[in-house]
Amino acid sequence: MKLILTLAVAVAVILACAVAGCKIFGRRDTKATIPLTVNPHGKMAIVYYSQSQVQNTALIAKWIQKQVGGDLFPLEMVEPYPEPYRETLKIAGKHHEEGTRPQLKGIPDLAGYDIVFLGSPIWYGTYAPPVATFLGACKLSGKTLAPFCTHGGGGAGHFLADVRKTCPDAKVLDGLTIRGSNQIERRLGMGVTSHHTEDDVVEWLNRIFK
Ligand SMILES: Cc1cc2nc3c(=O)[nH]c(=O)nc-3n(C[C@H](O)[C@H](O)[C@H](O)COP(=O)(O)O)c2cc1C
Repeated sequence: MKLILTLAVAVAVILACAVAGCKIFGRRDTKATIPLTVNPHGKMAIVYYSQSQVQNTALIAKWIQKQVGGDLFPLEMVEPYPEPYRETLKIAGKHHEEGTRPQLKGIPDLAGYDIVFLGSPIWYGTYAPPVATFLGACKLSGKTLAPFCTHGGGGAGHFLADVRKTCPDAKVLDGLTIRGSNQIERRLGMGVTSHHTEDDVVEWLNRIFK
């Protein structure tokens, strides 16, 4: 009896893991089902910051690259935010309140690029401080900017308005807002609650480059 019970529990655990796994990797491995109908002209850069273990913003950056090509430029901090989520919140909150622009390992040289995709997680209703550092250091005037963001349920906040304000001499296109999973959901084993797929990226690209 004890053996049967143990076996039943083991099978249930394996099944639960398989379902959770599909939920997580299912979304991450999705392929677009709608075609890309546009062909953006010009050299493209995809600059993004992604902090969480889930790497939501990085995933969107890679989907964009898969569709239209372009060079990926992940922004990396000299002193990355610490691993424990609470610590990140504490330090990032301080950076946000004080308007700190943390030092980056490098600022991409975008002199030869025409179109810049700019991605950030939403932190406190706007782009994350490392993106503020990039925007403060990189000359984007005359370029076409396509902003994208991922958030934990609160929406894009004033992300787009802030990008427009910070880059008045760039042509800022409509942004893409994606709900990502967050650390808490992940820790609770809830998998990914976002239902966004690569199709959202394709739909957005078709719209902004029409
Ligand atoms: C410091 C911090 C602040 C955040 N602030 C917000 C917020 O204001 N609104 C929101 O919807 N999500 C917020 N989030 C959740 C992230 O935007 C969300 O998990 C995002 O998809 C993470 O992207 P990444 O995996 O690329 O780092 C915050 C997360 C952190 C760590």
